[in-house]
Amino acid sequence: MKFFLDTANLEQIRERAQLGVVDGVTTNPSLLARETGDWRATLEKICQAVPGPISAEVVAEDFEGMIREGRELSRIAPNIVVKIPMCREGVRAIHALSKEKIRTNATLIFSPAQALLVAKAGATYVSPFIGRIDDIAQEGLEVLRQIIEIYEVQDLPTEVLAASIRHPMHVVEAALAGSHVATMPIAVFDQLFRHPLTDRGIQLFLDDWKQVEAKAKEARGS
Ligand code: E4P
Repeated sequence: MKFFLDTANLEQIRERAQLGVVDGVTTNPSLLARETGDWRATLEKICQAVPGPISAEVVAEDFEGMIREGRELSRIAPNIVVKIPMCREGVRAIHALSKEKIRTNATLIFSPAQALLVAKAGATYVSPFIGRIDDIAQEGLEVLRQIIEIYEVQDLPTEVLAASIRHPMHVVEAALAGSHVATMPIAVFDQLFRHPLTDRGIQLFLDDWKQVEAKAKEARGS
């Protein structure tokens, strides 16, 4: 499963990209609103920091506007993926942009039926928002599993991108379900590294090593 960072914060992206396990980035208007400066320059720099797919979202609500913005976004860098919200105009725009070989990410997906529609339209990625489904007391992971199963049964090439991830178990369950990608906030990505037994184990090894060194020193008579 590929790991994407769900943020537009350049500093955080650059730092995590050095770890060698970041495959891409997803942004949206809300994430860009948290950053300072010109959004276009920010996207350009994110595209340089991570060579994988970088999602950037259109804000137009009509077909023509989505196509115009989608083309403009795709000119920012070759690794831009145009994020299009789920709606009738959006499905039409995904279809048209895919004919132009512009990669798309169908966003704000909350049901398998919506996922089926955008795959038929030719979306490169589908983004089910599992955390927001949980927020309304429904099973986000169940929706994710159904989408993955439908795509497998129907042999659809659209990649499933688990989005709106809130905690590490969402990442683990998405991987178990066979999601192609999980996009996660920085806090969740950082949490993946941690386990209290790992911290304790490292401390124990360091403490024991002090004894090893002391014994070596004693043996050398110094
Ligand atoms: C995905 O591409 C979206 O940017 C994101 O996952 C939305 O998550 P949220 O529900 O935390 O806003």
